[in-house]
Amino acid sequence: MKILIIGSGGREHALAWKIKKSPAVKELYCAPGNGGIASIAHCVAIDPNDIEGLAAFAQEEKIGLTVVGPEVPLVAGIVDAFEEKGLTIFGPNRNAARLEGSKVFAKEFMQKFGIPTAPFKVFEDINEAMEFLAVAPVPLVIKADGLASGKGVIVCEKIQEARDAVQQIMGQKIFKEAGSRIVIEEYLFGEEASILAISDGRNYMILDSSQDHKRIFDDDLGPNTGGMGAYSPAPVITEEMLRKIGMQIMEPTIRGMHKQGAPFKGVLYAGLMITDDGPMVLEFNVRFGDPEAQAVLPRMKNDLVDVLQASCSGRLDKIKMEWDKRSCVCVVMSSGGYPGDYTIGKEIKGLDTVKESQIIVFHAGTKKEGSTIVTAGGRVLGVTSLGNDIEQAIARVYKAVEKIKFDRCFFRRDIGAKALKHLHPSPQTTMRR
Ligand code: AMP
Ligand code: GLY
Repeated sequence: MKILIIGSGGREHALAWKIKKSPAVKELYCAPGNGGIASIAHCVAIDPNDIEGLAAFAQEEKIGLTVVGPEVPLVAGIVDAFEEKGLTIFGPNRNAARLEGSKVFAKEFMQKFGIPTAPFKVFEDINEAMEFLAVAPVPLVIKADGLASGKGVIVCEKIQEARDAVQQIMGQKIFKEAGSRIVIEEYLFGEEASILAISDGRNYMILDSSQDHKRIFDDDLGPNTGGMGAYSPAPVITEEMLRKIGMQIMEPTIRGMHKQGAPFKGVLYAGLMITDDGPMVLEFNVRFGDPEAQAVLPRMKNDLVDVLQASCSGRLDKIKMEWDKRSCVCVVMSSGGYPGDYTIGKEIKGLDTVKESQIIVFHAGTKKEGSTIVTAGGRVLGVTSLGNDIEQAIARVYKAVEKIKFDRCFFRRDIGAKALKHLHPSPQTTMRR
């Protein structure tokens, strides 16, 4: 079968790497791909948002399965467009993708079906939002309703920051239409984790847990990024916690979407805060996480093509997921300056010196120029390692990271440190118990 992956990041390289292992694959295409994906798939220069162009390519090439990486085409209805043409595509349709495409939809949905999330209010009018802020306690979180390239969530410690955020989103319209409505919600305390499930609309399977590192600097300091590293499994998600997440979050979400006439097919990604009162949803995404996919997919023993096809055809009840018991850690190497301004076109050296079989170097913002690979984005590489335990995976991954060089390269040095804290609590923590 011919398979097409849509996207160009580390997530898509991880998907291509995993899909390529399936005996079902005859040809693998990626639109548009990147410098690393080019070595395992045919890269096709079509923009991920050019839905008509992608559907025409899939028809022409008789693509048997299309897998969508990023959220923008899903929210815009790529699944509807492909299915109208009789093409098989993995992911939610436009209606179901509202779980990520509209924060207001997601919050109201959670309220309706009793899914734990932070208390919130929705505003369409800037004056009403400002009036509410006059009496609202801080910290609080302001969220633009629509997609805003990961920049639409602002955590406010002080009320003036909240006023500025509302002014920018609703007054200056920095996110255009995506900010015509906002959610203001209570700040939740706890540790974050990512739980992904694959659903066929009725049945669902929860994938092994992972944890992202959203802030740019060590110890979770500095501005939010797309994600600076991830590991799987995440020890904060105990068996008991996973059971709660299944019962209180995944089950009612899949059932609720079905009941509303928008059955959810594809990856349902719950960004969670594990609070003293249990798991609470910060956000839903409707696709694999990036970099979570890089840490989770190397641990999946199943043939991913089987799983994706079962989601498309409503046969997920026939699949049993199997996981490698080892730990996996992914460290993102980024361009200095990211998530602010940065420069691209820097030669990446040392890639050929990383030869260990447990290491996979997933490419994100890279481009092939002749025989060299150069930087082409903010997040450049996701260096990933398996290890018998998380300590070994961390040690291995950082050894590999040290071998790769490019001008103004930046990476966090504490990916996985939170997992270690759970596994080896400090004496003070033990004493307090
Ligand atoms: P989201 O895109 O909704 O996941 O938000 C991005 C980040 O903002 C999350 O990963 C959290 O770090 C933070 N965040 C969002 N909502 C809340 C909340 N209610 N309380 C605390 N932090 C939050
Ligand atoms: N790692 C966060 C995301 O994929 O949205």
